[in-house]
Amino acid sequence: MAFSWAGGTRGTGTRTTHGGAGDGTGWYPVARSSDVGTSPLPVGAGGQPFVVVRLAPGAEVTAVGARCPHRLVPLTTATVVDGRLQCGYHGWQFNAEGRCTLIPALGPDGAPPPRADLAVPWAVEERDGWVWLAPERTTVARPPRAGGSHPAPDPEQVPELPEPAGPVLGNLDPALEHAWHPVALAAELRDGGYVQVRLLGRNWTVHRRGGALDADPPAWGVTERLGLIWLAPDEPRDRPLPVPEADDPRCTAAWLPPARTAAPAGPLVDALVDVAHVPFVHASAAGQDGEVPDQPVTREPGGFCSRQERAVADGVLQVTYVHRAPFQLLLRLTPPDGAGTTVVTVLQPEDADSTRVYTCLFLRGVDGQPVPAAVLAAEVAAEQAALAEDLRLVAGTASTGLPLLLRDELHVRSDRLGVALRRALADFAAECAALDRATDLEHRASA
Ligand code: FES
Repeated sequence: MAFSWAGGTRGTGTRTTHGGAGDGTGWYPVARSSDVGTSPLPVGAGGQPFVVVRLAPGAEVTAVGARCPHRLVPLTTATVVDGRLQCGYHGWQFNAEGRCTLIPALGPDGAPPPRADLAVPWAVEERDGWVWLAPERTTVARPPRAGGSHPAPDPEQVPELPEPAGPVLGNLDPALEHAWHPVALAAELRDGGYVQVRLLGRNWTVHRRGGALDADPPAWGVTERLGLIWLAPDEPRDRPLPVPEADDPRCTAAWLPPARTAAPAGPLVDALVDVAHVPFVHASAAGQDGEVPDQPVTREPGGFCSRQERAVADGVLQVTYVHRAPFQLLLRLTPPDGAGTTVVTVLQPEDADSTRVYTCLFLRGVDGQPVPAAVLAAEVAAEQAALAEDLRLVAGTASTGLPLLLRDELHVRSDRLGVALRRALADFAAECAALDRATDLEHRASA
């Protein structure tokens, strides 16, 4: 039998009645002991979601809140590493008391802030082959007996993870009506033809007739830019992403096949500007040092820019991120030899849980030389593999969108680009909401 007092609850859920043997005692049966191993198991106790796990084979059961406080991802995808529970996104580690003991992005001297700790129940105990949780302080010292003439434990259903308190930018947010969105590769739409696309939860048919583009149902505009067809449902307030490489004759462009993820666009952009997750998500970087260097960020109209320098074997690698709301991103890598790789990613928010992804690589050879076909093919393959890992990651987070209220998540020093992204999207959403209010007032005044 294993027993541990966690020393108090940091959870905030409310207790509800349940049909288990623990009624009235404050104890809730959550799982059979034999079902709890070294993979986190989601359970519910008193209406609160937890995961239960053994931090070593045969060890006593640990119970912690079901969601990582950093990016609110479910800890069901966490793994046990060196007797700690390690979140699968950025590798934060938690001990049996829920204390965050390691944030790899902060480096060996980085101290996790207190808010990084997980909520824990008041107590957890194994008795008669069952795991019991007391989510709140209870005066009943031990859980009820089970088996024999005692009532059979009846675990409650695992509750949904609660939504963040503040606004969340999902794929159907009204603000997104006021932006240009990519809806197809230009090559997918020949003259005299049409494509049927999904955008913001609706079907659109885009025609190209005599060189002109139009949409059915009518849209504010349809245009072609950067090798893509773009559609703005309503008066757009976004700004185009500057891509000088598109007009640079020294650059060779290569499109990846459009991809799709079962997740909203905001969390995917968040992953694409985030380097802290790389050693934990991307196989090619497994085992790399997770410390994230300083990332200066400059706010720009419609988004932000970050220019960084990283020491490499033969000099300095220049790294530049440029973002424009809502979902346009450029990453430029300029190594010391003057060659360069630029990755442009733009997203089409199709439905609440579906996003289409367009990625174009621009490669420049040393001294402006053309990039050999074999190098181009290898770069495209590597980018495709990395993108597939990010798409799997965000699809597994069960997110409904990107939280815009900063205090709903926990941001640390290495999250400066993620914070800039949330601010840019919050500004964009506020500007669009103000436009909608003004339009509404105009309509009422003229009615
Ligand atoms: S470590 Fe859990 S979401 Fe970042």
